[in-house]
Formats: sequence, structure tokens, C-alpha cells
Amino acid sequence: MTPSSILVTGGAGFIGCHTVIALAEAGYRPVIFDNFSNSQPKVLEGLRQILGFEVPCYRADCTNRAALLEAMRRERVSGVIHFAAFKAVGESVQKPLLYYSNNLNALLTLLEAMIELDVRDLIFSSSCTVYGQPEQLPVTENSPILPPLSPYGNTKQIGEEILRDVARAGEALRIISLRYFNPIGAHSSGMIGELPLGVPNNLVPYITQTAIGLRAELVVFGNDYPTPDGTCIRDYIHVMDLAEAHVAALRHLEYASIPAAYYDVFNIGTGKGASVLEVIRTFEQATGKIVPYRIGPRRLGDAAAVYADASKAHKHLGWKAHRTLKEALADAWRWQLYLHKTAHLLSASNS
Ligand code: UD1
Repeated sequence: MTPSSILVTGGAGFIGCHTVIALAEAGYRPVIFDNFSNSQPKVLEGLRQILGFEVPCYRADCTNRAALLEAMRRERVSGVIHFAAFKAVGESVQKPLLYYSNNLNALLTLLEAMIELDVRDLIFSSSCTVYGQPEQLPVTENSPILPPLSPYGNTKQIGEEILRDVARAGEALRIISLRYFNPIGAHSSGMIGELPLGVPNNLVPYITQTAIGLRAELVVFGNDYPTPDGTCIRDYIHVMDLAEAHVAALRHLEYASIPAAYYDVFNIGTGKGASVLEVIRTFEQATGKIVPYRIGPRRLGDAAAVYADASKAHKHLGWKAHRTLKEALADAWRWQLYLHKTAHLLSASNS
């Protein structure tokens, strides 16, 4: 049987490239569609080394309808996983129009192209950011959707609403939104991972860069939260567990007897929270490296604690996270070491 081709928009990005691996391992034929605005072509080389073959890749923007149609037609795509979006929370506050325009136009253009070609299965990359500062923990899919904390978060909320309305209108699309908690880690080969541009905003890349000496110290944003050690709690999920959730969601759409017009949402997290200090300690245990840190003021907009109830995904998709926080941090570290080594090799060959 010919494997189903799945278009992965944003497939060169952090979650996208790990999902490409999970798809290939599950017997799908992933096709990357990426404009490389926040990713680097060298990820394709990492994928080739891990998978042993070249993943087809279209370098184009998701707002480019003609390019989308061309890729989907030529590759005979049967489903789409849509990651392509801008994702920097702070930048979205500075440049809201850029975020609304890019993230929403990409989604709308993709939906129109899918309808035109009768491509029916879509997985949408959403975020636990839609829950804002949750009042009850763990967060279930029925927890209230609170006013968004940023234009980025709003593009995820609006994206979900668009998808729900399209399915409600009876359009022949089967759609799942996955609400990710905090993705961290890297493929266990250490050959692909997160590539933050400039100073990282997220905790784990900051930790690995501090441990390797690129940053002097980590600032822990507040230790006066109402949590056991005073630092914020998040649900950190290994990016490969998250990648595998996409495969489970696709399979659900393909094999479950679900209606032609379908929409549902699932939390994708581990169900366990870890505080910032716990993450630092676990990293130190996993790697034997010390992370210099100091306690600083709270960061504006941070919720004290967010972690998932992921039982719906377990029940309906047959998916749950298997990898531990320690494994995720060890993999993130392996990736940081790989980056360090290859940067040296590059500068040596340039000199
Ligand atoms: C952020 C985004 C979220 C996105 C997620 C991706 C915001 C408000 N939310 O979540 O939309 O889906 O990243 O992973 O930006 N911390 C420090 N020092 C640091 C960096 C972080 O103490 O230098 C703390 C933060 O206060 C927070 C925790 O580490 O408690 C995790 O922060 P981060 O990795 O930025 O993720 P979120 O803010 O949870």
C-alpha cells in the first residue's frame, strides 16, 4: 500500500521537524511546507541523517495559495498538520497586525486550498495559552477559555473558532486542535532540536545555553507565587511525545468512524506539573552540569501554575506521554552540545 502523504506546514520548525520523524516512523510520507522564516535549512540535513532519506520540502509561505495547491496536488496529500505560524508572545504584543495577518491568513488560505482539493484531515497546532490564567487545575478541555493574554494567544483562540465554525457549517473537513502545554527536549539523537533566535524567551533553551556558558546566569522569574517552592509550575512535555500525539490524532481521523464534518480539541500534556526550581534541579541531575541562577522579579503575564488533564487524549486517541522530564532535559542538553560542536566545526572550516 502506498503510504499516505501528509503535508506538514512549518515542518522545519521545532515541533514540526520532530513530527516529521514521528510520521515517517508510523509509516506516513511527510512533506514539509515551510518558508524558513524562523527555521534553518540545516534541519533537513538532520532529518536526512536520522531517517536515512530526504524528506520532500517546499520552500513557500502558507499564505501563498498557488504554492499550497501545487504542493498538495503534486504530492497527492491526504491530510495536513498545520504548524506554520508566528509564535513569539512578546513580539506579538509589539506587532499585533503582523501576527493576526500571518497566522490567520495562513489558516484561511490552507482551509480554502484543502476544500478546493478535497483534502479532508487537518490537525491544528493550538496551545494551552487559550486557557489564560486557569482558575482550576488540572486544566481540562472544558475549562473556560479566558480572554487572551497576547495577540499570539488570540490567533490560537480565533483559529480554533474558525475551525469549529467551518465544521459546524458542514464543510467536509475532519479537524482536531491539539492544545500543547510546554514542549521541551529534542530528538534522542541530539541532531535536531529547538533553534531559538537570539536570547531565548523559554526556560529550557535558557537553561541549556547557561549551562554551556553562552549566558552568565538564569533569572528565575519570581519565587513568591502560591506554589510549594514559590516558583511557577508548568506541564513540560517531551517534544517527541508531542509529535506522536499528532500521529495518534491523524489515525483517529482516519480510522475512527467519525462524521465527515468533525471538530474536536485535545489537551496534550503530561498531567504533571514541575516548578522552575524542580526543572533546574532535574537538569543538573540529568547532566551533571550546574546552572548558575538568581531569583528575579516576576515576569508580566505569567500564571502561577498550569498543567493538563490529558485523559481525553488517552481515552479517544489512545495517546499519552511516556518520556520523563529528566529524559527531556538530557535530550535538550545533547542537542545543545551538538550545536556547540557543529558551530566549532563550521567556524574552523570557515577560517
Ligand atoms: C510560553 C508562552 C506559551 C508558549 C510556550 C512554548 C508566554 C506567556 N507563554 O509559555 O504561549 O506556548 O512558551 O513553550 O510566553 N522562566 C524563568 N526564567 C526564564 C524563562 C522562563 O524563570 O528565563 C519561567 C517562567 O516564568 C515560567 C516558566 O519558566 O514560569 C516557563 O516559561 P516559558 O518556557 O517561557 O514558557 P511559558 O511562559 O509557560
